[in-house]
Amino acid sequence: MLKLENINLSYGEIQVLWDLSLEIPEGKIVALLGANAAGKSSTINAISGINKTKSGAISFHGKDITKMAPHEIVDLGIVQVPEGRKLFNFMTIEENLLLGAYSKRARKNLKANLRRVYDMFPILEERKSQLAGDMSGGQQQMCAIGRGLMSEPKLLIIDELSLGLAPILVQELLRTLSSIKNEGITIMLVEQNVKQSLAIADFAYVLENGRVAIEGEAKELAEDPHLKKAYLGI
Ligand SMILES: Nc1ncnc2c1ncn2[C@@H]1O[C@H](COP(=O)(O)OP(=O)(O)O)[C@@H](O)[C@H]1O
Ligand SMILES: [Mg+2]
Repeated sequence: MLKLENINLSYGEIQVLWDLSLEIPEGKIVALLGANAAGKSSTINAISGINKTKSGAISFHGKDITKMAPHEIVDLGIVQVPEGRKLFNFMTIEENLLLGAYSKRARKNLKANLRRVYDMFPILEERKSQLAGDMSGGQQQMCAIGRGLMSEPKLLIIDELSLGLAPILVQELLRTLSSIKNEGITIMLVEQNVKQSLAIADFAYVLENGRVAIEGEAKELAEDPHLKKAYLGI
């Protein structure tokens, strides 16, 4: 579905991604793992058209999207839930959700999509008139995911879902991602939390210093000695 081929990316003089290649098959959950500063967000910002690559190609369903603008990429159905949720704290939960539905396509199905989000996260409906800034971290993450779903994604990219959340809550959110996948939405899960991510992902890539260091089926990677030592402390 999505293919990155030999991506190189720099901020000014400093190169942060090196010949990075990866593939996301339709209908799967693919984890992009790695420590802080490994290059995960830089990679997905390249996919979303926010970062411009120096060389390499990015394609979606065979169409070259390397030079497309961010809003055109969203229109294709590649939607990012950014690191740190990026909600508008002084707007209500529902207003934040509706912001996800700005494309023509998503506006048409706004009511049905809102219903779907509220069915998935009932707490958001209960609190729809409350300010986003007054919600707990977990509820804010639900709202950020919900806003992404309001854009009718084909590929939903979630950056640091687990950041600052209790493990039990992370587990619940990850389970929700599995049900989103079952609705036919492909997911790219960007995480430092290796263990919990591998438990729900089909396939995973591990970035180290802007390069793919390890890749494979999530089940097999959970047993990879290097990965265990470097990321799981066992
Ligand atoms: N806008 C930017 N300008 C300059 N350097 C950046 C910028 N964004 C990220 N970096 C650097 O690029 C490297 C990769 O960062 P990032 O992609 O955010 O990693 P991750 O998401 O894995 O934590 C880091 O060394 C970081 O400091
Ligand atoms: Mg990041």
